[in-house]
Amino acid sequence: MGLAIQPADRAHAQTPVQADSALIEHGAYVAVLGDCMACHTVSGNTSYSGGLPLATPIGTIYSTNITPDRQTGIGSYSYEDFEQAVRHGIRKDGKTLYPAMPYPDFRHINDEDMHALYAFFMSGVKPVHHQDRAPAISWPLSMRWPLAWWRWMFVPSGEAPSAAVAHDALADRGAYLVEGAGHCGTCHTPRGFALEQKAFSPQDGSAYLAGSRIDHYTVSNLRGGDIVGLGSWNEDDIVRFLQSGRNQHAAVFGGMADVVYQSTQHMSEADLRAIAHFLKTLPPPADNRKFAYDPAVKQALFKGDVTKRGALDYLNNCAACHRSSGMGYEDTFPALAGNPVVNDPDPASLLHIVLTGATIPGTHVEPTHYTMPSFGDRLSDQEVADILTFIRSGWGNHASSIDAEQVGKFRKLIAPTNEKKTL
Ligand code: HEC
Ligand code: HEC
Ligand code: HEC
Repeated sequence: MGLAIQPADRAHAQTPVQADSALIEHGAYVAVLGDCMACHTVSGNTSYSGGLPLATPIGTIYSTNITPDRQTGIGSYSYEDFEQAVRHGIRKDGKTLYPAMPYPDFRHINDEDMHALYAFFMSGVKPVHHQDRAPAISWPLSMRWPLAWWRWMFVPSGEAPSAAVAHDALADRGAYLVEGAGHCGTCHTPRGFALEQKAFSPQDGSAYLAGSRIDHYTVSNLRGGDIVGLGSWNEDDIVRFLQSGRNQHAAVFGGMADVVYQSTQHMSEADLRAIAHFLKTLPPPADNRKFAYDPAVKQALFKGDVTKRGALDYLNNCAACHRSSGMGYEDTFPALAGNPVVNDPDPASLLHIVLTGATIPGTHVEPTHYTMPSFGDRLSDQEVADILTFIRSGWGNHASSIDAEQVGKFRKLIAPTNEKKTL
């Protein structure tokens, strides 16, 4: 799926072409920062014509047509209408949007970027006639007025706070991108009982970017913890991951694969560095523990000692790529030793990737795909449990064990559905 950073549609331009095209180009970049494409385009359809189903706990809703078509899109939106929808979740007819549209984070987008975004959607996007689909939510939950109450209760009102927290200009730019258009917190910050995001910036406390669960994947903790967090990654590692989907520690999968493919790989190097610099200002938890590699498992496997439960299954199924040392191969097969996905108290990502497999998307800087095969049909619940317990306790990893019952339950949970995304 390509990105629609097309030149201005001249027929729609209202101001002199010169100024307009620079503004529209800027707006196209803000749309990349905000990953508007990911939700507002169904693969195979014209860009931004909407219709993507998003599964929510109350039913399925569909993203809307945000092309400048006057009947079915947002062609009749003034700048003020557009700004109200994107930053405050209020539709042109005054009704409140479902928070699957990440307007609580988009509040942070500044006026300059908002004006450019508007110019892009009005003049840089091809109008498409495509009728919006009504949400499949039954009464009374389908009523939109409780959403206004939700917005009023949970979304801080008024002007977006300044992203500046007196670090330095680079971290402030990073905060602006992460908290605002990048809406990283939508997925990476835990949610409360009414599905409200618990924090919107570091000033809101330690819940900010502390990890969550989405689409039955663990969403990584991005704070400074060494074992669960980005404590052991330096800024270059973060930039490389966001640009190429892989680095010496990990490879991208789940919902993050779309984010890298459609958004972060297209961000400027300077902006990626700003994001990395900001993320590195988030402190580790008070009880932070450093990872220390323990060679015992590697030595045992080298000697052919497979007495430890799960060792033989690991050798037969996983070691060809992740190696008996658990160190993998840089940029190709991620290391399992010291890996946050392996050590996370929530094993959802771990169970998910082993049962279903995953493919690292090709990116501009790293076009090669590498695939982790799926083991769902090949291994029993007990075998999966044994392997996962083995890797969660080997090479210096220290996470809880997994039992067969957990694996069985998880299999049921991820049994195929027709829905594409969950918020
Ligand atoms: C995580 C998914 C997601 C992302 C990312 C996203 N949107 Fe949305 N957006 C939605 C959904 C879903 C709706 C419809 C919500 C509803 O019907 O209540 C929506 C609604 C809208 C509306 C209101 C349209 C109307 O028909 O009244 C506008 C405008 C909009 N989005 C613009 C944007 C822009 C601009 C971006 C990027 C900066 C963006 N969206 C990114 C999911 C998303
Ligand atoms: C649609 C949900 C979603 C959004 C939005 C999102 N992420 Fe992620 N992210 C995930 C998931 C799920 C994972 C775990 C899978 C993986 O490691 O690739 C993840 C993993 C990561 C990792 C790897 C961490 C590790 O320990 O392996 C980094 C770094 C990251 N995200 C940064 C970001 C940044 C920066 C943004 C905002 C620009 C962002 N993410 C936005 C879902 C999301
Ligand atoms: C043919 C090579 C291959 C085999 C065999 C293999 N993997 Fe993988 N593994 C990969 C690749 C490639 C990725 C990256 C996938 C992605 O990011 O989309 C990966 C990713 C992972 C991850 C996520 C790590 C991260 O941070 O991104 C875990 C955990 C994992 N594998 C565990 C296992 C286990 C357990 C087994 C055995 C049951 C196994 N793998 C077998 C190639 C393999």
